[in-house]
Parts: sequence; structure tokens; C-alpha cells
Amino acid sequence: MRMEAAVRTDLDGRAREILEGNDRGGYTVPNGRVYPFQWNWDSAFVALGFSSFDEHRAWQEIETLFQAQWDDGFVPHIVFWRDDAGYFPGPAVWATGRIPPTSGITQPPVAATVVRELWARAGDRGALRPRLNQLFDKLLAWHRWFARVRDPLGKGLVVAVHPWETGRDNSPEWDGPSRTIDVSGVGEYQRRDTTHLDQSMRPTKAEYDRYLALVQFGRETGWNQERIAQTNPFRVADVGMTMILLRANRDLLALAQELGRMDAMKEVQGYIERTEAGIGDLWDEELQCYCSRDVITGRFSGFVTNGSFLCFYGGAHHEQRERQMLAHLERIAARVKYLVPSLDPEDRGFDAIRYWRGPVWAVMNFMIGTGLADAGYERSAERIRNDTRALIEGAGFYESFCPVTGRGTGGGDFSWTAAMWLHWARHANTPQPE
Ligand code: DGY
Repeated sequence: MRMEAAVRTDLDGRAREILEGNDRGGYTVPNGRVYPFQWNWDSAFVALGFSSFDEHRAWQEIETLFQAQWDDGFVPHIVFWRDDAGYFPGPAVWATGRIPPTSGITQPPVAATVVRELWARAGDRGALRPRLNQLFDKLLAWHRWFARVRDPLGKGLVVAVHPWETGRDNSPEWDGPSRTIDVSGVGEYQRRDTTHLDQSMRPTKAEYDRYLALVQFGRETGWNQERIAQTNPFRVADVGMTMILLRANRDLLALAQELGRMDAMKEVQGYIERTEAGIGDLWDEELQCYCSRDVITGRFSGFVTNGSFLCFYGGAHHEQRERQMLAHLERIAARVKYLVPSLDPEDRGFDAIRYWRGPVWAVMNFMIGTGLADAGYERSAERIRNDTRALIEGAGFYESFCPVTGRGTGGGDFSWTAAMWLHWARHANTPQPE
């Protein structure tokens, strides 16, 4: 028992060192070499990590991100506060013409959920209330942007226009929808990710060509978000972003109530109801699973991914579907040592070390575990938290982990893994013998 406590204390210190080492003054880079800028959802998760030892710094992480918000409410997926030749594609390729320079796509909107959590833990609410008020308006503007621009079907489903937006870059969910992207204008370019990391853990060249073709497409529209949402060659109703926004809208509603913002309450309630009514469109009857859906062809991706299990986090309650999702989870648990792999291990395309085609991600586990616990599935929730803890204890603070062997995959000293340790995984209960 004492040994265990010592291991945790050690890891607490190391996690803190990682966050402090990746702190660039008001914002944190995911990993200094591979990702040397501020990333949107990384920062939100990182704020949870900071909140365990530095409350001001936690709030500041989110405030800095929202300094880069565009006038129409859009919040970019990368903010290039300073240039760095170690990453491609950098600000010159995105060419959004913003100050500070940013990318032209967004990322899963976890920030409102995080801010609600920061507020719940607030030491001095009186002092923090003005900061909450300011952030609330910015969060509302972002959620409004999703409703106005990224819900072309009017069903409350988030339509992603780039695999990078979903955060699950090379998930096989995007293979079908991106097959028809014209890459003939992409030309020569030099990737930087594969100079820092093992190629077998990264997306392929064919995938990168498509990523860049989509950046070119956006740039050619002058980053006209309305046009992109209507005409982009890649338009997918993403199950991950939709569940995350559903949860974030519930949390924004709670904040609106806290602040007495009656006007906003009605509006946000409307967003929630729209998604609750539309979410059935992401239930694939054949697969008996939630998954993403190509907006252009109407086809389901047909893949069980860790994004599917975010249904609990979104609170998309539906008894029969929940039962099916739990059955998928149990089936998968019997095939791997550590939950939750990013792709069903029974799938032919499962690749235990390649990015979003197999590896386990601590932030996804955090959301899935939190959702399961909220829905009353404590045993599954605790299994996921325990697995996350065991992965970090065994391998360190990697970007992701092999679900079969537990080895670290991708980059090391990763900010969001350190944050998830401090905020969540370290609190896992030791499993009792059966
Ligand atoms: C990358 O460069 O791999 C990032 O995931 C893009 O956001």
C-alpha cells in the first residue's frame, strides 16, 4: 500500500514537471518537439491538470485560447503564438490572415465542460466570477457558431470539415468520406511529424495528401466558413464532436443558470433538444452502434471506435442502445489488455500502434469513463480509469498507448496525459480481487 502511494506521488511530481516544462507563458504546448503551438482541446484538458495545483494558471490556459477567437465566434484548432519550423503545416500554409496567426479549422468543443469543472472547484468564487462572466460570453459565441455554421442538416449534429477537426485524425471513420478528395494540386511538401516520431505510429502519406488538399480548399475560399460547410469535399457528421458538444451545451446551460443568464438558457436548451432529437441519425442499426456519417453520401462509417463510446458522456440516454454499447465494450475488453482502443480490435484495419487506429488515449478514456460513471455504470467506468492509471504507471506520460502490450506510442512527456493523470487517473481505486 505504501509502495503504491510512493509511485503515485512520484508520478504527480513528474506530471507537474511536464506541464510546467511545456508551459510557454499563458499557454501550454502538447509536446515541445512534435506540437510546438497551442492546440484547442489539448489546452482545455491541460487546464484540468493545472487546476490540481495552480488555479490561476488553469483559468489562464482557457483565457489565452479564447484570445484567438475570431469575431464570428469560431475558435481555431491551433494558435501559432510564435513560429516554429519544427511543425508542418505552419501559419504560412494556413494563411488565415489572423493576428495571432491561427489555423482555419476548429476542434472538439470541450472547453465549456472544463470551465464548469473549474468553477465547481473554484477557491474564491467572488474573485473568479468576472473571469467566468467573460469566458461565458466567449463560450456561448463558439457554441452559437457551431449551431449556425456547422449544423447544415439542422439536426444538432456537428459536421466536421477536416479529419484534424475531429481530433481523431486518421480514424478509419474518415477513410470512406475522404476517398474522393482531389489531391492533384498538393505538390511536394516535407512532413515534420515523421522526423520526430516513428512512421509506423503516424498517418500515411496518402492521408497527409488529403489533409493538405483540405487546407488548400479552405484557403482558396478565404476561410469562408459558411462556404466551407456547404461545399467542402469532406463533410462528416462526427459522432465524437456531436457527443462532446451535447455535453458542453449541458455544461454551458448550468453555467448560464449560475450566472442568471435567462436569455442564454433558453437558447442553449434549444441546442440540446435539437441534438437529442437528431442523435438517432448517428445510430447505425446494422452495426448496432453509434458512429459517424458521411453527409455527402449519407453512409455510416460502419466502425466501432472510441468516439462511439462518447454516447454516455453526451448523455444520449436510450436504454436499448446503451445496452448494445455496453455489449460492444465487454466484447472489446475480452480482446485487449487495456481499454479503450481507438478502433475495435476485431476490425481488419486494427493497428495497435498507429495513432487513431488502435492506441488508447487518456483524454478519450477520461470522457468515456466520466460518461459511464454519470450514467451509473460504475464498474465499467472504474475499469477504464484503472486501465489508464496502469498504462501511465507502466509506460509514462505518452501521447497514447498500445492496448495490447501497454507500451507508449507517439510522443513522450505529453501535456494532456500528464493532466489526465493529475485530474483523474491517479484517483483510480485499486481493483479488488474477484
Ligand atoms: C497533427 O499535426 O498531427 C495534428 O493532430 C493536427 O491537429
